Amino acid sequence: MLLRPAFLMELVLTKWVCAFLLCCWLFVSGVYSVEGLRGDSKVRGVNLGGWLVVEGWIKPSLFDDIPNEDMLDGTQVQLKSVTLEKYVSAENGGGMNVSVDRDIASSWETFRATLQTQLTADYPGKPGWEDNAATFEITIVANTLHGDYQLTNGYGYSKAKDILKRHRNSFITVGDFSFLYRHGINTVRIPVGWWIAYDPDPPAPFIGGTLEALDNAFSWAQAYNIKCIIDLHAAPGSQNGMEHSASRDGSTDWPNPDHISQTLHVIDFLASRYARHPALLGIELLNEPSAAAVPLDTLVSYYKQGYQIVRKYSSAAYVIVCQRIGNADPLELYQANIGSHHLVVDLHYYNLFDNFFVNMSAVDNMQFIYKSREAQLQALNSANGPLVLIGEWVNEWNVTNGSQTDYQDFGRVQLEVYNLASFGWAYWTLKNDRPHWDFEWNIKNNYLQLGNSPKNWNVNSLVLLGSAYVSFYLHNIL
Ligand SMILES: *[C@@H]1O[C@H](CO)[C@@H](O)[C@H](O)[C@H]1NC(C)=O
Repeated sequence: MLLRPAFLMELVLTKWVCAFLLCCWLFVSGVYSVEGLRGDSKVRGVNLGGWLVVEGWIKPSLFDDIPNEDMLDGTQVQLKSVTLEKYVSAENGGGMNVSVDRDIASSWETFRATLQTQLTADYPGKPGWEDNAATFEITIVANTLHGDYQLTNGYGYSKAKDILKRHRNSFITVGDFSFLYRHGINTVRIPVGWWIAYDPDPPAPFIGGTLEALDNAFSWAQAYNIKCIIDLHAAPGSQNGMEHSASRDGSTDWPNPDHISQTLHVIDFLASRYARHPALLGIELLNEPSAAAVPLDTLVSYYKQGYQIVRKYSSAAYVIVCQRIGNADPLELYQANIGSHHLVVDLHYYNLFDNFFVNMSAVDNMQFIYKSREAQLQALNSANGPLVLIGEWVNEWNVTNGSQTDYQDFGRVQLEVYNLASFGWAYWTLKNDRPHWDFEWNIKNNYLQLGNSPKNWNVNSLVLLGSAYVSFYLHNIL
């Protein structure tokens, strides 16, 4: 009995210490929760890249049967007159005369294959070959685009239709959703192209069928309690000139007002169709606009209109805006007042695609994640603005000959840091011809260890915990 007061005192102190520690933890880590997610309070996602928007590097075999594949749309060629020994040039880079007077070939002497609109064939009579100035030697200098445009024009409509039908039915199936579910993935980010809004008969050369596939994905997701982010990956005219935005020839014509209003129509279509679907988590208005080609004010104005369109149909759907790629600071979107509710900024974190990462060791790469990525995430998390999504990252780097352990370490460091993002993360991508980019390969071969979910207390569980604690405390004191 003598011990009792001391024991009580100790108990009270212990509780205060616990409460204090809990408050500290809340204060330090912040509490974020994404409404509607199973189990976790944040997105643990995987991208379904290369499915409804074709990317040749993800599945090269899609292009295997194209005859004369080296002259696909967007192939860059140089033309050298056989007799004059001069290159064809667009004077001053285009918009003026086309001349045949260059001794060496560089950018003004490099044409994209939409050639017939730029050179006229008006030779009177029948030209010979070797002795004619209008006979050109063609040198292919770049043949990098392998997207929807190149696939469909390369095969022609009916063959492309068969190939895309088979691809869309087999590349991603309900079995993949089962796999993701079993590995704790709660969200898929699904890249789509603008032509989905015109299904089943989109403008040439695009081919219908992606809408049915997206409907399937939503049903499979619902069956496995997984949420969907629809990501407009390819916008009319192309927002970055790359194959993953279905660029025809590398140009970036999206900022044209006609293309922007057409894009808003696509957002309206997607929002009206999926707003009430229980598997919808959010709509991403535009993937990776290029900082070099898309002015910030044009982009912000589009994002504001897109936000309002989604809100016409849903107050709950998250509206996701992607940072510009290239030379742009994501803070530019935090200061832009795009929308007030359920707004998310998407950043893509790759330790690739930049000379900066060339020659980095495994340790350098991991230090970069801690020093640079973590600092940026913490700054954005506390910027009192939109939530943060790391919408693309991959367990790959420029390190050659990395061991399995190196990859496991790199993956663990990335997960540890990206788990801090207030909205969560999504791996790029579920399936890929290159093993280290392939999520399923990484999991099955133990190169990426997802580990436990991040600490995922949501507000509800904290309230429950708090009230349980208070009643326990009162019970003991009184
Ligand atoms: C990488 O290292 C090689 C060999 O030392 C060097 O030649 C090259 O310039 C380096 N590249 C970059 C981008 O630092």
